[in-house]
Amino acid sequence: MPQIREILDTMDYGPSPEAADVVTDWLAAHGRSFGHFIGGDFTRPAETGTFAVHDPATGAVLAQVAEGSAADVNAAVAAAKAAFADWSATPGHVRARYLYALARLVQKRERFLSVLETLDNGKPIRESRDIDVPLVARHFYHHAGWAELVATEFPDQRPLGVCGQIIPWNFPLLMLAWKIAPALAAGNTVVLKPAEFTPLTALAFAEICREAGLPKGVVNIVCGDGATGAALVRHPDVAKIAFTGSTEVGRAIRESTAGSGKKLSLELGGKSPFVVFEDADLDGAVEGVVDAIWFNAGQVCCAGARILVQEGVAERFYTKLKRRMATLRTGNPLDKSTDVGAIVAPVQLQRVRDLVRKGVAEGASLFQAGGDLPAEGCFFPPTLFTEVAPASTIAEVEIFGPVAVATTFRTPDEAVALANNTRYGLAASIWSENINVALDAAARIKAGVVWINATNLFDAGAGFGGYKESGFGREGGREGLAEYLAPVRIGTAPPAVEATSPTLSAVPAHAGVRPQTGMAEGLPGIDRTAKLYIGGKQARPDGGYSFAVQGPDGAPLGLAGLGNRKDIRNAVEAAGKAGAWGAATAHNRAQVLYYVAENLSARAAEFGRRLSATTGAAAPEAAREVEAAVARIFFYAAWADKYDGRIHATRSRHVTLAMHEPFGVMGLVCPDEAPLLALVSLLMPAIAMGNRAVVVPSPVHPLAATDLYQVLDTSDVPPGVVNIVTGDRDTLSKTLAEHHDVAALWYRGSRAGGAAVEKASASNLKTTWIDDGQSQDWFDPALAQGRAFLDRATQIKTVWVPYGE
Ligand code: NAI
Repeated sequence: MPQIREILDTMDYGPSPEAADVVTDWLAAHGRSFGHFIGGDFTRPAETGTFAVHDPATGAVLAQVAEGSAADVNAAVAAAKAAFADWSATPGHVRARYLYALARLVQKRERFLSVLETLDNGKPIRESRDIDVPLVARHFYHHAGWAELVATEFPDQRPLGVCGQIIPWNFPLLMLAWKIAPALAAGNTVVLKPAEFTPLTALAFAEICREAGLPKGVVNIVCGDGATGAALVRHPDVAKIAFTGSTEVGRAIRESTAGSGKKLSLELGGKSPFVVFEDADLDGAVEGVVDAIWFNAGQVCCAGARILVQEGVAERFYTKLKRRMATLRTGNPLDKSTDVGAIVAPVQLQRVRDLVRKGVAEGASLFQAGGDLPAEGCFFPPTLFTEVAPASTIAEVEIFGPVAVATTFRTPDEAVALANNTRYGLAASIWSENINVALDAAARIKAGVVWINATNLFDAGAGFGGYKESGFGREGGREGLAEYLAPVRIGTAPPAVEATSPTLSAVPAHAGVRPQTGMAEGLPGIDRTAKLYIGGKQARPDGGYSFAVQGPDGAPLGLAGLGNRKDIRNAVEAAGKAGAWGAATAHNRAQVLYYVAENLSARAAEFGRRLSATTGAAAPEAAREVEAAVARIFFYAAWADKYDGRIHATRSRHVTLAMHEPFGVMGLVCPDEAPLLALVSLLMPAIAMGNRAVVVPSPVHPLAATDLYQVLDTSDVPPGVVNIVTGDRDTLSKTLAEHHDVAALWYRGSRAGGAAVEKASASNLKTTWIDDGQSQDWFDPALAQGRAFLDRATQIKTVWVPYGE
């Protein structure tokens, strides 16, 4: 024990460990052995085989936990399925009481849960006690409220059924709360698989469920590794998968669920920028870095891992940062004055070490601090790389450890370009005392969450989730709850008709073309081949081929361009260049839509004749379709400037904005039925929200679409905002699905085509929206227009703006 005088001389912290006896007693009471929690009971672990769970700070074995087999997953899903009917029919107020009870019990056990989390994961007790566990309770309270309100706030929505939830090891109990609370509030039942490194707090939570009297089977917990997770993903009775973890596994889950009809939300990796402008409060920004990358030893999906600092202040900033790093204490996670705890497991520690070695080999300049590390356990010191080349491995790869990489920039434009130079888009932190600079960067950085002069703020009331390869879907807030609901089908769906996939017969584009119908009597028709429409111009198909379009009686009607990969790439490029559309005012976009409606209406008779000729519809029916298309354009012109975001009530002295942003370039693949109306129904919400579109019309009836570009030309639609590529639907949609610059893809075609689109989309994890391969009534406003389309045409960016000193 040091003398007071020595303490005053050194000013060192003494040890201040949190007692762990409540947890060790709990582990001992369970014989340090745990089964799964299925149908309200714990299984006997010995029956299925177990794996060891370690304390990463010491390497000691904490417990043996059952390894979930496919049979365990089946049993858990069966229990959840059996519980669903009653739970979903339980009045919202009663569900609210259960969620409230869970929140209360978490709060009552705050200390126990914090210590258990710290032992299992290695994070400092300060974090589990002050951040993780309080947020867990907050999540259950918040969603107790949603259980109460869901019926009235989402009147046309229903719960999904059994939700499979797979979570990582970095915030074990918090991720559980993020998954289970909204699922239960919405009336679903769940099977949750915790990460294999950190299952213990989930098992403690299972006990809390019992204590709260939660009906059996509503929450089931199956432990195990990736194989157990994969069995859950594959299970046919699971209606939704919610996953948080690595992008690689997210991709595998996207592929494995393709075509299954399962709803999916993915919260994946990141390499989030931390941008320091020269007018920032540098001391504040230094504290920000501490919270951004040394919080939870950097094992945070939204960690501010890439520091971008303006050149003029870079040296000063680095000096301050290094001085601060020297004061960070790395060590015993149970010590209340520890800043950086243990890395979760040896394999993760090795990964961090390897990447740091790579950074040194790549020539970046390394600085490490944090004092002496404990002799045993998984520890790594706070690390800063400067002079990091933007294309180097450590600048691109998610390190998931206490390692920041820093680069300088000169102008705000360069800062935004560097910030966006990543395949990820989870979060960003922006530091500037100038509100214009900060908000401008917030708008231009492609990330699902942006913190201004702050970092790593979370709240149950605000959405969290990514853009690009950071995944899709949101957790938290109203938008997070919506991930656990589906529309109740209203209106009468027409009889199911599987979309056709005609074999298009290629003819050279320059071949003589049959006269078109509807030409002047007695004269031969003028040869006309409908071309593609790319960048505001008619374009010949790259391959030089067209395909014959037939009328309902099989008679040839004309030719349409047979688009290929290259045409899609050209169309995407043209759409990419039309970015000004997204920045135009919503009023301007509305005006353009009204103008399209006006011009279509002026040519209604001509379009009606074309529809009759192509689909065989009687004249009044065709006229009705044109009229409905005009009305639909009006509908989305009306919405263009009214689809507002929200301000979430999170913390005091924070404005937390939930903004609707366009995706950018969207692919829209149209069905065969109602060829004009369906195309308009997909296109108009997309462009009303500021997206640019590459449209693939029905291959059976492409001519109504190609006629439309004359309307677009005369209606002030800027070049590149709408591009039309005719051809084989499923070939073209595969190219769209694989294209990295297409951010979202809607597909209305065959069931197999939809599955192929979902599978191919895994390459860049774009958002897809497919139907079930069956026709729908495009005339019915309840089915074919409305908020569902606007929701799917936008993504929510959450921007946290603190105010006050
Ligand atoms: P991981 O993605 O393999 O594990 C996350 C969860 O998915 C675990 O519960 C795991 O058992 C489960 N899982 C693994 N394979 C699966 C499969 N095929 N089907 C269904 N479930 C499966 O992440 P891991 O290996 O623990 O960490 C590797 C890297 O991933 C880290 O270094 C980090 O870069 C990143 N990561 C990102 C996280 C985030 O929050 N975004 C969280 C954890 C890891």
